[in-house]
Amino acid sequence: MALRGGTVFKDKAKLSFDFVPETLLHRDAQLQRLQSLFRPLLDAGASSTAFLHGPVGTGKTHLSRRFATDLGRAAPEKGKAAEYVLVNCRQRMGDDSVLLAILKKFDERFPDRGFSIPEKLQTLRGQLERHKVHLIVILDEADALLKKSGPQLVYTFTRWGEEGGRSTVSLLLISQKADALDKLDAAARSTFRRGNEVDFPRYTRKELWDIARYRADLAFHPATVPDEVIDLVADLAAEDGDARRAIEILLYAGLAADDENAGEVGAEHVRGAKGEVHPTHVEDRLKGLDVTRKLVLLAVARKARKKTYVTTGEAEEAYAIACEEFGEKKRGHTQFWKYLKELDALGLIEAKLSGEGVVGKTTMISLPEVPAKPLAQLIETSLRPRSAAK
Ligand SMILES: Nc1ncnc2c1ncn2[C@@H]1O[C@H](COP(=O)(O)OP(=O)(O)O)[C@@H](O)[C@H]1O
Ligand SMILES: [Mg+2]
Repeated sequence: MALRGGTVFKDKAKLSFDFVPETLLHRDAQLQRLQSLFRPLLDAGASSTAFLHGPVGTGKTHLSRRFATDLGRAAPEKGKAAEYVLVNCRQRMGDDSVLLAILKKFDERFPDRGFSIPEKLQTLRGQLERHKVHLIVILDEADALLKKSGPQLVYTFTRWGEEGGRSTVSLLLISQKADALDKLDAAARSTFRRGNEVDFPRYTRKELWDIARYRADLAFHPATVPDEVIDLVADLAAEDGDARRAIEILLYAGLAADDENAGEVGAEHVRGAKGEVHPTHVEDRLKGLDVTRKLVLLAVARKARKKTYVTTGEAEEAYAIACEEFGEKKRGHTQFWKYLKELDALGLIEAKLSGEGVVGKTTMISLPEVPAKPLAQLIETSLRPRSAAK
């Protein structure tokens, strides 16, 4: 039994967006499919392509990470070397920026500016030849890239070997839309024959139950999450067959249980958590933020727990405290302001000028989507993953 009053979490990080589980339950068929599509790579060093599609939270991103990681580990046994890079095209603006992310895998200090796309491609070829490694490029949310930049980059990768040089590249495209590749021209599409498709259907309630149980056992102390609670989580997540929802509900329910010092997670915590889990997937969006931006957002979230609108002054005050707390250098007012505007542009906060009632004009900040409390908790967790994992 858990100690009453102690935290229910054994390892909260096991519920985080970043954690890729060892196995993805009920995804054997998809995994085997990928393995057979990429067999030529291990057998003969030949390139492959695959197109993964299905609704949000069906395990596309994590299964491809799992698959590519395991492939990279298995490759040396066959005398090969393979590495992967995953780029979320929704967080990247077009070909140039996607390529930059790929290059940074091999050279973190590759400059953000100053190189054209052909130069970047040339550099990538050089790097792959130097490292003697087969690169698996995973373009996640690929439809965003196709929409923004057209099919050129996908085309380039599918024809990589024909352009000369000794390096080889495989391509894995992921999209929620089954028709995402319709935007490709015939030449590129021909490499994505129907046989390369891997379909990710929504999880059934029973599958979600197994997934929730599995993740809960990883993240919580024994006997703190009874099966009845998993029943409820599965019910709620089954509304859209989304595993991420199940996991987020577990996380928030656990946070709520800890808040009350309940010592175990109950149905009521889950019901409360359901309201707090927002479909835009908070963790996903936090991921793109660096420490400073997280601290700015944390400041707003902390202040917003008590009131709907927060002034810039209040936020900056809370920011100064948060910087001290997390041992980060505090940025000046101008910088702080710039970060607020950025967060606003990302839709994480909403900043607007106040009308009457306040002396002078001041900016009023609110949280348009995400409730303040879980947001603050999530940021705190992400800023100190070590101690939070205890
Ligand atoms: N079969 C599964 N077993 C365990 N965890 C899973 C499974 N499928 C998805 N998850 C988890 O659910 C979350 C969403 O999965 P993800 O791969 O991001 O979905 P998608 O990319 O399809 O939106 C991740 O945290 C992932 O680890
Ligand atoms: Mg995904």
